[in-house]
Amino acid sequence: MSIPNPNLADSSAEDLRPCDPAIYREVMGTFATGVTVMTLGRADGFRLGVTASSFNTVSLDPPLILWSLALKAPSLGEFRSHDLFGVSVLAASQKDIALQFARPAEDKFAGVQIVKGTHGLPLIAGALAHIECRTVARYLGGDHEIMLGQVLTLRRAHHAPLVFQNGAFQSLSGT
Ligand SMILES: Cc1cc2nc3c(=O)[nH]c(=O)nc-3n(C[C@H](O)[C@H](O)[C@H](O)COP(=O)(O)O)c2cc1C
Repeated sequence: MSIPNPNLADSSAEDLRPCDPAIYREVMGTFATGVTVMTLGRADGFRLGVTASSFNTVSLDPPLILWSLALKAPSLGEFRSHDLFGVSVLAASQKDIALQFARPAEDKFAGVQIVKGTHGLPLIAGALAHIECRTVARYLGGDHEIMLGQVLTLRRAHHAPLVFQNGAFQSLSGT
């Protein structure tokens, strides 16, 4: 269902809709986000990655970030049993990587260049930022689990960001 009013400046109280799933998805889709790949890795070669746009900063002191993963996601059990995780903030050129880590596959890392973090976490080469975190709290949030991560190490590059809005990858004008 689409929301007809193109200009909220002209809106009236009657335009406000009860929250049904279709309206909820459409309205929340207006909020533009970056795109990350959340990764786990171990010395024995185990590694896992999930595309997530639910990433955000929470606190400066201590430095905390959050993200959420669907309770039905097959990778949730691994994120519950590993405290350390990596965040790769994707660059505009990494749309294919975002799609690759959003689909189930035998090896989601196939063809993806990786760099190892200080804590041994696999991080996506060419990303806009790399962050290594330790999960310090997990909360149930409806049909998702919210993970709060303390930032351990981080670095940035200077590429244009990959942006997700209205259910699609977008580019920022001027970048
Ligand atoms: C741009 C984008 C953002 C996404 N953000 C999230 C997210 O924040 N949380 C989530 O649970 N799934 C998100 N997904 C869907 C997951 O990436 C997808 O369900 C993935 O298959 C989960 O990995 P798994 O199957 O290995 O558990 C997103 C997908 C895309 C394309």
